[in-house]
Amino acid sequence: MDAPNASSSYDTIANIIRDSHATRVVVLTGAGISTSAGIPDFRTPSTGLYAKLAHLKHLPYPEAIFSYHYFKHSPELFYAIADVRHPRNLKPTISHAFLALLAKKNLLHMVVTQNIDGLESAAGVPPEKVFACHGSWDTQRCITCKEPFPDDRMKEAITQGIVPRCLATDACDGIVKPDIVLFGEPLREGFEEKAEHKVVEADLVFVMGTSLKVHPFANLPRLACAGVPRVLINREKVGDLGNRKEDLCLLGNCDGEVRKLADALGWKKELETLWGAKTEHVEGNETDGEDYTVRLDAAIDKLAGMLDESLSISKGHKSMLERHLTEKLARLPKPPERDEK
Ligand code: OAD
Repeated sequence: MDAPNASSSYDTIANIIRDSHATRVVVLTGAGISTSAGIPDFRTPSTGLYAKLAHLKHLPYPEAIFSYHYFKHSPELFYAIADVRHPRNLKPTISHAFLALLAKKNLLHMVVTQNIDGLESAAGVPPEKVFACHGSWDTQRCITCKEPFPDDRMKEAITQGIVPRCLATDACDGIVKPDIVLFGEPLREGFEEKAEHKVVEADLVFVMGTSLKVHPFANLPRLACAGVPRVLINREKVGDLGNRKEDLCLLGNCDGEVRKLADALGWKKELETLWGAKTEHVEGNETDGEDYTVRLDAAIDKLAGMLDESLSISKGHKSMLERHLTEKLARLPKPPERDEK
């Protein structure tokens, strides 16, 4: 059977929504819905953050930068690139505005996002309709005593690329971490109730801008009940999307696909107006264009330098220990010669 042509897919989805077959829409999102705001995703070959980090020969693997174990050991590496991942002055995209429009029309059951940029809220999605399962940059605390750390001091540390230290007591001096979820940390509380249960209750599921490579998020689309349409909006197919007969795949850029869908729904003008209202006060993306690429590349160069340095320090430390051991052994009394008789 031929795949349905794209325009019929938009009409099919529009009909499902317009005919009130869907009133509990769940949207599962990833980095791909924010790339047009200026933040590169992780896994797109050549432009994704991990492709850039893969060139760093002393980093054990690209994701290590976001591993809790590695962070505890070498937080300065995370803070070397924190400034270029931190969402300042970002404009929500038209895809984020589409989520806000679904909420405005009382159709949105929940947005479950892996993103930590807060752009759903910036677009006007009510806070109770967003579950950011990988946390956010909004708050931070000491990883030792868990004491919250002031926002202004955190901003300063991020801008300067230095590791913030706990101010609670002189004795603590623990490392401060934004309340984002690193690999190896438990997910934010509420995953079962605000993500898994919501997908089970959904009557329409959108999966947008994610490679579905990170668990347990990656398993969420499978929880949609049989017969519930699942719509993938992404550059390529991911997970098991497309395997069920009611699945629909809109392959392309999120913003372009969302505009076409809004057109089919008769919502285009309303969507553009809502988006305009949420973005006009934002002066401009700090991450716009070439400037951002230059900043990102500079941050990655800095990281490479830090890794080289720490390796040469540890090599120096090792050879110092070896020298020390050789000298110590030389000073020990010689063992008695073994009697061969
Ligand atoms: P990925 O970078 O793994 O995947 C992004 C997906 O979006 C890819 O399939 C891209 O092709 C697609 N994409 C990119 N830009 C797009 C656009 N404008 N329109 C449509 N599709 C686009 O990002 P995530 O799936 O979000 O976790 O990654 C999941 C997690 O891995 C992140 O939350 C992060 C990362 O390691 C942690 O750091 C803990």
